[in-house]
Amino acid sequence: MKTRITELLGIEHPIIQGGMHHVGYAELAAAVSNAGGLGIITGLTQGTPEKLSAEIARCKTMTDKPFGVNITFLPSMTPPDYPGLIQAVIDGGVKVVETAGNNPAPYMPALKEAGIVVIHKCTAVRHALKAQSVGCDAVSVDGFECGGHPGEDDIPNFILLPRAADELTIPFVSSGGMADARSLVASLAMGAEGMNMGTRFIATQEAPVHENVKTAILAATELDTRLVMRPLRNTERVLNNPAVERLLEKEKALGSDIKIEDILPEVAGVYPKIMKDGDMDAGAWSCGMVAGLIHDVPTVKELIDRIMSEADSLIKERLAGL
Ligand SMILES: Cc1cc2nc3c(=O)[nH]c(=O)nc-3n(C[C@H](O)[C@H](O)[C@H](O)COP(=O)(O)O)c2cc1C
Repeated sequence: MKTRITELLGIEHPIIQGGMHHVGYAELAAAVSNAGGLGIITGLTQGTPEKLSAEIARCKTMTDKPFGVNITFLPSMTPPDYPGLIQAVIDGGVKVVETAGNNPAPYMPALKEAGIVVIHKCTAVRHALKAQSVGCDAVSVDGFECGGHPGEDDIPNFILLPRAADELTIPFVSSGGMADARSLVASLAMGAEGMNMGTRFIATQEAPVHENVKTAILAATELDTRLVMRPLRNTERVLNNPAVERLLEKEKALGSDIKIEDILPEVAGVYPKIMKDGDMDAGAWSCGMVAGLIHDVPTVKELIDRIMSEADSLIKERLAGL
């Protein structure tokens, strides 16, 4: 399948694996790129420019296909060395950067100078337009369904994607709630040029996370996510567990007086405990409503091949035959 996104990124299938904290290591990124999509290493998980450089080098030993690096600009108690991380990406010869969170404008001159394709992930049409105006090549339009940070507007993709199509001139991919061929074909129908998946890629053989994480996603339904940190205007969609329930109780009790310090036990430094050690109740971890559509743990190649062949049948048989 050829779309503006496959052409822009030099990939075979219009499927991107979004950056995921403590999931987006070289193993997963390379598997997605080798299967014809675009895999993405998560820059902040590496933390320092030196470690990111090493991870990029490791990924290059696993694939000769294009892959990307995610740089997330989120509120942080100890801001990472963003200029250093961007330099590591440039020096590593990475071809694509997925930015997320705050406006990537300060880093656009350096990224564009290095010939890097920039895809900004955003949750609102106004942010997508801003990304377009500062020179991003594409955007990932992340609906309210998404795992991670859906923003504060709560607009689901059935509205957000056609709105993006009406306003943008640069290509965009759908993100949030995407799992299968139905997601891809629906996204294309709504004007997207491909799709970005997070949660679905965690439940794959190659995702370098503890088996408990994959089992938790398989066991979850679409009813099992919660929104946390809304009073802090840093809303995150996470899988429910006892830590999340504790966090929500604190939010209820403290109301608008709540501060990040009040919920540190539930959110700070919990990712390695969950993703690496499989301690599923260690804290709040991002997960999309799409968990309700995930029932197996295929290889990345099986997943992508299945999506592409079922998309073909959907378009040529079901839709053409209507
Ligand atoms: C466990 C997990 C960690 C994530 N970490 C990040 C991150 O560090 N930076 C980022 O931009 N997006 C992050 N995301 C969001 C994904 O890149 C993607 O936008 C989102 O998962 C799409 O929604 P879906 O889960 O419904 O596919 C994360 C998502 C998950 C599930």
